[in-house]
Amino acid sequence: MDHFEYRDGVLHAEGVNLVELADTIATPFYCYSTATLQHHYSVLQNACKQVGLTDTLICYSVKANSNLGVIATLAQLGAGADIVSLGELHRAQTAGIAPEKIVFSGVGKTDAEMAAGLEADIQQFNVESLAELDQLASIADRLGKKARVALRVNPDVDAGTHEKISTGKAENKFGIAWEDAEHAYAHAAALPSLDPCAIDIHIGSQITDLAPFKTAFEKTADLLARLRAAGLTITQLDLGGGLGVPYQRNNETPPDPLAYARLIAENFGDSGCRIVLEPGRLITANAGILVTRVIRSKRGQAKNFMIVDAAMTELLRPTLYGAYHDIDLVQESNASTSMWDVVGPACESGDFLGLERNLPELEPGALLAVFSAGAYGAVLGSSYNTRPAAPEVLVDGTRHDVVRARPSYQDMLTGEKIPDWLTD
Ligand code: LLP
Repeated sequence: MDHFEYRDGVLHAEGVNLVELADTIATPFYCYSTATLQHHYSVLQNACKQVGLTDTLICYSVKANSNLGVIATLAQLGAGADIVSLGELHRAQTAGIAPEKIVFSGVGKTDAEMAAGLEADIQQFNVESLAELDQLASIADRLGKKARVALRVNPDVDAGTHEKISTGKAENKFGIAWEDAEHAYAHAAALPSLDPCAIDIHIGSQITDLAPFKTAFEKTADLLARLRAAGLTITQLDLGGGLGVPYQRNNETPPDPLAYARLIAENFGDSGCRIVLEPGRLITANAGILVTRVIRSKRGQAKNFMIVDAAMTELLRPTLYGAYHDIDLVQESNASTSMWDVVGPACESGDFLGLERNLPELEPGALLAVFSAGAYGAVLGSSYNTRPAAPEVLVDGTRHDVVRARPSYQDMLTGEKIPDWLTD
């Protein structure tokens, strides 16, 4: 569900006409819808309430879209944050998320990141190895702090998703092996500056079937019972993110958040634990589009190419994962269609936004919208070919604000220099 709709043949983001917006902001640009962000957040929140999960904390996974305007919109709704770096901690706090709503995930936290999280007194560290436990304990000792810790355990479940975004299998780098979990908790409990009060799992992303969640939750419920039997006080369960979204907007039905919440309630409703969730894509994917203009079209012998001004440098997902994103005209047309590969100007054969798309032959300057680009879109951008990052625009009703400006070429060179020996 999103708030990008055609009105009189022109695509609008809520009340904002995207042809007019594209005339004021040079393409390519990202456009996010506040109403869609609010909708997705509240669907999940209401689903939890509806199944009787009263003590929940939705920690938006900032990596999916870390624009300050987006995080601040969610912060106003009461969201916490799931972060994986000092930079994301800084963003989350700048956007107004209170430290007691921040969980720190990630397999490679550095000393500096641990110290900053401890100083900020964040809610929880999700720890992924014994070595990381020891490291966190020694930094907490030094700072005179006690760290609330969840061990991220790897339930060895196949999430049935793309191999590059599967995290809960034994061969993935994430988490503590299931068989080692009890030993790791005992180890943590013996360290006075740690409070191992939580369990954390995250089995992957864009999961379109509830079955892997069910298996992982059942294993987690079993681990919870064993840890409690061993005398640990576990008060919090962090179930990660990963719920999939429809990328083919009219043709895909990923699991309903209500069914997901019901599964959580069935497994943990009477656990007495607070439930922490770390959704990223679910909240932001369909709340964002990438608007791009046609540079020119080129009919080839084997293929027709629609060359647009957005590239893998703006939206990497098609190139990296072969991911599918709907691509539609911003101004509807009745012209006859043919098959086109929609490609960018970057110097890589793998640079495409969509293959074999049924579109009319468009004039230079025509606008296209690439849908479901609000998660893992702008954040995965690069400046390859010295292409400036696409600006990001947040819409709310009929108003809009540029929440990240396009850098100038001068901005892009800031920090670089010609070495002294070439200029002396
Ligand atoms: N929690 C942890 C520990 C994670 O590693 C992730 C995502 C999330 C939460 C949020 O997952 P989500 O609800 O968004 O599925 N770049 C890839 C996705 C990478 C996901 C990384 N971890 C893509 O574009 O599909």
